[in-house]
Amino acid sequence: MYRTHTCGELRSEQIGSRVTLAGWVQKVRTLGAMTFIDIRDRYGITQLVADDKSSEKVREEASQLGREFVIAATGVVRERESKNSKMETGDIEVALEKIELLNSSEVPPFTIEDQSDGGEELRMRYRYLDLRRSPLRKAMELRHRMAFEIRRYLDSKGFLEIETPYLIKSTPEGARDFIVPSRMNAGEFYALPQSPQTFKQLLMVAGYDRYFQIVRCFRDEDLRADRQPEFTQVDCEMSFVDREDILSMFEGLIKELFVKVKGLEFKEQFPRMSYAEAMERYGCDKPDIRFGMLINDITEDVKGRNFVVFDSAEYIGAICVKGCATYTRKQLDELTAFVKRPQIGMSGMVYARVEEQGIKSSVDKFYSQEDLARVAAKCGAEAGDLILILSGAKKKTLAGLCALRLEMGERLGLRKADEYAPLWVVDFPLLEWDDETERYYAMHHPFTSPKKEDFDLLATDPGKVRAEAYDFVLNGVEVGGGSIRIHDTKMQERMFETLGFTREKAMEQFGFLINAFKFGAPPHGGIAFGLDRWCSLFGGTESIRDYIAFPKNNSGRDTMIDSPSPVSDEQLKELQITLCK
Ligand code: AMO
Repeated sequence: MYRTHTCGELRSEQIGSRVTLAGWVQKVRTLGAMTFIDIRDRYGITQLVADDKSSEKVREEASQLGREFVIAATGVVRERESKNSKMETGDIEVALEKIELLNSSEVPPFTIEDQSDGGEELRMRYRYLDLRRSPLRKAMELRHRMAFEIRRYLDSKGFLEIETPYLIKSTPEGARDFIVPSRMNAGEFYALPQSPQTFKQLLMVAGYDRYFQIVRCFRDEDLRADRQPEFTQVDCEMSFVDREDILSMFEGLIKELFVKVKGLEFKEQFPRMSYAEAMERYGCDKPDIRFGMLINDITEDVKGRNFVVFDSAEYIGAICVKGCATYTRKQLDELTAFVKRPQIGMSGMVYARVEEQGIKSSVDKFYSQEDLARVAAKCGAEAGDLILILSGAKKKTLAGLCALRLEMGERLGLRKADEYAPLWVVDFPLLEWDDETERYYAMHHPFTSPKKEDFDLLATDPGKVRAEAYDFVLNGVEVGGGSIRIHDTKMQERMFETLGFTREKAMEQFGFLINAFKFGAPPHGGIAFGLDRWCSLFGGTESIRDYIAFPKNNSGRDTMIDSPSPVSDEQLKELQITLCK
């Protein structure tokens, strides 16, 4: 037997027992004739002691141990003289009687402690060592708990977990596909799924009316803190449902996870907001509603006063930052620089300090106190508040105000990681116009159903058609998205037409689905949650990397296994692939 207990298990109750622990040496300290060893496994850390009660051999062996050596240590549990309340095993220690060296270790390239001295790149290269650290271990445990509770809940509701293939034909999710050459069909390629969208719809045609899958998805897109090229979806689909059925089923799942994983109970129904309201008041389709500071359209209030910047703007919007009238010139300059960064791209920022004596703005020349008071009233600003104003093209300005609002929320500590504000965003537009290619694209995907009341607009004003599509947003992060699907062949054909597909092109890409729908497709709809994002939010961070055991870096590389990498000429030849030089 390698061990009788884990390294996180022993408490005062075991005092006097002889135990054997197995694990990694985290630290060795020698104090006079005593050697203290911290032994670690995934359950915790226990202090081992070799002192004058231990044999000379054990004392010698203890002093020679290095960091990350693997040992089995036997001894008797005793009460510690100086207890450590920060450690779960801090009341006891193990008086060493025997040390068995199971394996030695090279000196690790960084310290394997809660706060490591290794940079991110180094830790990525030695991910298996980083995973030994307790923050990552806790992240893996949280992810396991989430996946486990999701399966338990969905199983209790009659959902079947069904696997769909990874080697498929391109799915129209909007990002680039990762493609895989086929040796047996030279010159042809599989695509890795961006999501199992079409397969889950085929499962509905097949009659599996409650499907789910915790499934890997692949998207070749630019990476950010909340995006990985391979990530995991909790992918779900149901038949004979409308939007309300889906939202209530999955609100149930989300609430269950809050209780089971975070110990938080949400009694009320989650708030809902239309896409249109989210864009107007928060400047984006994933509002962080942990704090107010809503956007106010002041276009009509400030035009026509000979201030050319505003007079020439399509849109002028303002946010009111409570209690910040005391912001210094330097702080305001910093904010101006923030909105001028290329990612945001505004040309400048106007401010107004609301004070007891009056309102002082950076554009006093053009505006009377009455003008400014009207703006202040519209923004709900009172003495002591600061108004920040951006102007320009509407879409860009709203995006700028969104970023500025989040920045101010961050600066003022209003975006607390342990506070959760769930939200459903509903009624997304069905289509998005692209100026470059001069055509509409499906905002969600081409199988999303328009809202019944907007059907007729499809012929006259497609850009105005709203979809039966919804997103689940948590603390400003899009955690899930889905829709009610089109199940009627005629409507699907009409949709492809609007998207500029010829009949041939539609058949070539989606013929399998169009044909399947001829055999009795039930009304259906679904949703997919990003498991990595959901875990990172429950864990209190915005980066999803910590919740993926072996993630890729920002260039899409796995530096640990050094991938992607070239393949041999033989492999290329077999696949009949010639690389362009
Ligand atoms: P969507 O494209 O909105 O919908 O994806 C669903 C959820 O997956 C997560 N997600 C990602 N997470 C990490 N890295 C990425 N690169 C990444 N891309 C997406 C997000 C997102 O909300 N088939 C539809 C779902 C449906 O209609 O049922 C779909 O894939 O959290």
